[in-house]
Amino acid sequence: MNHRKMQQKRLRVKIISMGNAEVGKSCIIKRYCERRFVSKYLPTIGIDYGVTKVSVKDKEVKVNIFDMAGHPYFFEVRNEFYRDAQAALLVFDVCDRNSYLALESWLTEMKQEMGRINKLDNVIFFVCANKIDKGKRAVDTLEAQLWAEDKGFKYFEMSAATGEGINELFQELFSMLVEASENGGRPVKVNTSLGFTKEQADAILRIKNGRDNFEKLGLHHSATRDDINKAYRKLAIILHPDKNVAPGSEDAFKTLVNARTALLRNK
Ligand code: GTP
Ligand code: MG
Repeated sequence: MNHRKMQQKRLRVKIISMGNAEVGKSCIIKRYCERRFVSKYLPTIGIDYGVTKVSVKDKEVKVNIFDMAGHPYFFEVRNEFYRDAQAALLVFDVCDRNSYLALESWLTEMKQEMGRINKLDNVIFFVCANKIDKGKRAVDTLEAQLWAEDKGFKYFEMSAATGEGINELFQELFSMLVEASENGGRPVKVNTSLGFTKEQADAILRIKNGRDNFEKLGLHHSATRDDINKAYRKLAIILHPDKNVAPGSEDAFKTLVNARTALLRNK
């Protein structure tokens, strides 16, 4: 095979991991590369580097993984590694709400460090919701999926402990990286086709998280029977499972019906 053809068949990529300390960045990478899980917490000191080779379509891909330390203490060490990354894993722990809320500041840090050199538009971001094996979630799938979708990022749920979702994540990531290289280094836009709107998802979240029936229906405590019925009709259209395919719409619809019945009983 001539040199040029060989080059076309070979691809080098750089992936970085980001997210708060202890969310499981190293474990996700270890699970994929070494097929194992260590339950003892061994904090990454500054940065860990690893290489793996994979084949995607007929391409040989050399994957350089820079696994960053999440602890703020290591900022000075990790900041220079953002440069030239083609993909980033934005990891949070589904049982730790702060680690989810921190994703924005990880993006800000990355932007500050590499903004002058490369554009973030050319980086493929994967939001990784880890530790789904643990139960007692503090972040809903729907909420995190919407956050990712809003930014044009891919969203995956996984457990480094059981291995669920890990191969799917990396396979999709590698195939997007190959697609991007075939597209002159620009990632092909993520198809945002969740099949539901933000209004529908917000309604589900409000019904689920509202502290009482008034709040669930978006009403004041002084609401009249008429207000209750009006709010009910509006939400019933948004939430009806025939029209709303977002996860949780069926439960939300049932809760809505019960909330209305309970509120009218007391009026
Ligand atoms: P830093 O290197 O300090 O930034 O942390 P990290 O994000 O690399 O976390 P690490 O992978 O070291 O994992 C932190 C802890 O979470 C360890 O005790 C892991 O065993 C545990 N852990 C990681 N993934 C999972 C998971 O999917 N489920 C459960 N139950 N525990 C996990
Ligand atoms: Mg680590």
